[in-house]
Amino acid sequence: MNTRRDFIQKSLAGSAALCFSRFPDLGGVSRGGKIEILLQEPQATISPNIYGHFTEHLGGVIYDGIWVSPESRVSNIGGIRRELVEHLKKIKAPVIRYPGGCFADSYDWRDGVGPAANRPRRTNFWAGEENDKSTASHKYDPNAFGTDEFMRFCQLAGAQPYLAANVRSLPAAEFYRWVEYCNSPQGSTTLAENRGKAGSLAPYNVQYWGVGNESWGCGGNFTAQEYATEFRRYTAWVPGYQQQLKFIASGPNGDDLTWTRGFFEEILRKGEGQLRSIFGFGLHHYAWNTSFGHTTDWNKGKGDALQFDIAGWYEILREGQRLELMIESHWKTIGEFDPERRVKLVVDEWGPWYRPGSEATPGDILEQMPTLRDAIFSGMTLDILNRHADKVAMGNCAQLINCLNSLYLAHEDKFVITPVGHVFDLYSAHQGAQNIRTVFSAPEVQYDRDGKPATFAPLNGSASLRGKDLHLTVVNMSTEYGIDIQVQLRGASAASASSRVLSALDLHAHNTFDHRDAVVPYSPNVTISAGQPSFTFPPASVTALSVRLT
Ligand code: AHR
Repeated sequence: MNTRRDFIQKSLAGSAALCFSRFPDLGGVSRGGKIEILLQEPQATISPNIYGHFTEHLGGVIYDGIWVSPESRVSNIGGIRRELVEHLKKIKAPVIRYPGGCFADSYDWRDGVGPAANRPRRTNFWAGEENDKSTASHKYDPNAFGTDEFMRFCQLAGAQPYLAANVRSLPAAEFYRWVEYCNSPQGSTTLAENRGKAGSLAPYNVQYWGVGNESWGCGGNFTAQEYATEFRRYTAWVPGYQQQLKFIASGPNGDDLTWTRGFFEEILRKGEGQLRSIFGFGLHHYAWNTSFGHTTDWNKGKGDALQFDIAGWYEILREGQRLELMIESHWKTIGEFDPERRVKLVVDEWGPWYRPGSEATPGDILEQMPTLRDAIFSGMTLDILNRHADKVAMGNCAQLINCLNSLYLAHEDKFVITPVGHVFDLYSAHQGAQNIRTVFSAPEVQYDRDGKPATFAPLNGSASLRGKDLHLTVVNMSTEYGIDIQVQLRGASAASASSRVLSALDLHAHNTFDHRDAVVPYSPNVTISAGQPSFTFPPASVTALSVRLT
């Protein structure tokens, strides 16, 4: 068996950019793994929107994260953080959800439009969670960032906007007017004129509209039946202007299938035609409980973002994997009501959620420090969404910056790409490509789970094809073993191949404002023999292989 050092040196051969001294010790290599890419079995096209984002007026997401103000010494474009925009363009950010989350159902869009000096300061939905270190704008929202600023942010990033409407505390007429403000043509309505005064004569043409958020809880405490009635009312005869509006219904609390069933039963009470008004059904999945089943208490069940052992590593990944079952079970249930499959799933919040304490900027509530473990979690989740591209129309990682599973952390003029941000870069080639059925297997990992022996299947991933370019992403979740594999391309052979790998020796490795490069991609060689690529997937790694087929 190789030493840990031998292993990483072999993996890194050809990567001049890395300093080997970062990898003092390595585990062994397992040879029993298999990746079989069935090129004759193309599945659905992977919607680029699966790679979407989520931004809420919550803690440091908007103020400090995105919005620094036009007068700031931080490099900005009309108040929007320039460095963030540049990175979003690089990863081809397709869609951004805003303004919440729970915040959405307390938000009055009218507060965030018009001359900046006239905008009111309002108590933020999350004010009760803020602490004495929190910035004032996080508690009392100055509304400096509103609809026009968000649209500008999306335009700069090259992303589509996805707005979440307030169903709990605004009447339906205000929803219609928000649509009118965004989409009515130049010269048509007073609201279009107001939009023009704010700098955009052209309509924003917003297609994606969420109708409430978590309507079983912070979005109004509705029953599924009550919410379905509201959904029908809010979406009935909304003028779309030149757009086919795509409404997204609020889904269940976790994997609660009774909500899903109750919602569709009630929707269909007014006939099958009602299904035409539902583009997507929301699913939220946060992995948070690492108590090994000892508690279901929201606060006590959470673990630490930075302090965890091997069992804690696997536990959060296990919790994350439940998303696949959620997708399958909700899809099956929706199919009972919608056999023609008009309604797709929109996984508009996902990620791990740890207890407070690892914030890069003290006082930023719900901010946590993403580590290598969260990079693996994120690769694993994006692979799940890719594999279910026939069912999933959109995914939105929660949340983009200064929050839970953030791609970026920023404070004043400091900015860093987290390991999660690098994963989105490694995976961006999947956007719009065709998902290809791929079989993954590897010997199971054995470990001690809270005093009991447990096993974990360490290898998974997804593959997609665009012309002759095959993109294979693989997570090796084993903390100990690299997995040596000759990838089997069924029905094709490789002309060339390259890799990008994200890993680190320390499972807790993370990037900070002062040490920005603890977890960054590197590019080991891929060997090809008899047209089949071979690669050793390092322990605790996310890999993207780009293969050019002959
Ligand atoms: O992402 C943080 C919060 O988690 C969102 O506001 C809410 O929708 C969910 O409960």
